[in-house]
Amino acid sequence: MSAVKVCALADIASGQVRKFAVEGRNIAVVRIDDDVYAIGDKCSHADVSLSEGEVLCDTKELECFKHGSAFSLVSGMPNTLPATQAVPVYAATVVDGNVMITVENTK
Ligand code: FES
Repeated sequence: MSAVKVCALADIASGQVRKFAVEGRNIAVVRIDDDVYAIGDKCSHADVSLSEGEVLCDTKELECFKHGSAFSLVSGMPNTLPATQAVPVYAATVVDGNVMITVENTK
């Protein structure tokens, strides 16, 4: 298990989300101020890309554009219906100005 560089912090504006493929998984990477968050990109309600949704900075959530479930960037849990299952959460850090994502090779 090791951290993978996905981009420079400057490549994501605060309040924005970008999708990256890391070790075969699609991951939505969100920046809020100088913090970064990484959750599974696929909504748990249907096969929809969460990175096409909206970042809710105040509540640290990513909202699915399809039906509006807002997923916590911290826990991966949907805080609003219709989704009820969590999406994966990945460790995300900034090292030397680069966004680093860690994916465990458990699956
Ligand atoms: S597809 Fe995401 S909430 Fe329905």
